[in-house]
Amino acid sequence: MMTNLARARATGPAVAHVRRAGGSSGRWTERQRRDPYAKAARANPQLKSRAAFKLLEINARHKLLTSGGHVVDLGSYPGGWAYIAREAVGAGGAVVAVDLQDMAVPPCGVEFVCGDATDPEVMSNVLQRCGGRVDVVLSDMSPKTSGDAWLDHVRIMELCHAGRVFACDSLRPGGSFLCKIFRGEDDRELQQALLRDFSTVKTVKPKASRKKSPEAFMLATGFFGCRTAAQ
Ligand SMILES: C[S@@+](CC[C@H](N)C(=O)[O-])C[C@H]1O[C@@H](n2cnc3c(N)ncnc32)[C@H](O)[C@@H]1O
Repeated sequence: MMTNLARARATGPAVAHVRRAGGSSGRWTERQRRDPYAKAARANPQLKSRAAFKLLEINARHKLLTSGGHVVDLGSYPGGWAYIAREAVGAGGAVVAVDLQDMAVPPCGVEFVCGDATDPEVMSNVLQRCGGRVDVVLSDMSPKTSGDAWLDHVRIMELCHAGRVFACDSLRPGGSFLCKIFRGEDDRELQQALLRDFSTVKTVKPKASRKKSPEAFMLATGFFGCRTAAQ
């Protein structure tokens, strides 16, 4: 039987073009200009974009990032989450960020690895840079959106599972994993897979995530510490 991922691959490569809301770049620009989160990000350039407010909100509620923590940030470009994580862990902590896209100037104190987070060689380099200890794995990784909700869902699920496998290979017992999803039929499968390795799994939708967007985040806490994740 053809899996969703195989079907998604068969439909061709990710479409690089991002269709703007309302089909008009003018309307998109206007919405960005008025958006309170985009405005706040412009006022604090280190936050980079509204994405930063999603992590700030999730962290305020669930206290993921703590002083002295070691954090891996998957899909880190342009650097808002990495900056927030760095500020939260402080001088005694560590943040290693990974993205396909080069962050020419990563946030101060963040180690950046340019590469594919689904590549085991890249991730073994990341783990080494964390000194072998990881408390939190964050994934805001997102495929280039195609405008086809089903295809985007299947593609982001592949990134979520890669993040999950890395988290289960690297987290200390009690550690946490947060990943971005586009809601769809395979959410339950991801939730079930996470429940094999974490005591609590919930789906969260911060206010900074647009209501109409299928975006949400799956948050898994209380890593059991002995790896069961299927590759
Ligand atoms: C929404 S952006 C991340 C924004 C970031 N969290 C911030 O606060 O600035 C999603 C990122 O995921 C990255 N990405 C997608 N697939 C990836 C992969 N396989 N490995 C590493 N990064 C990936 C993209 O290059 C993109 O920069």
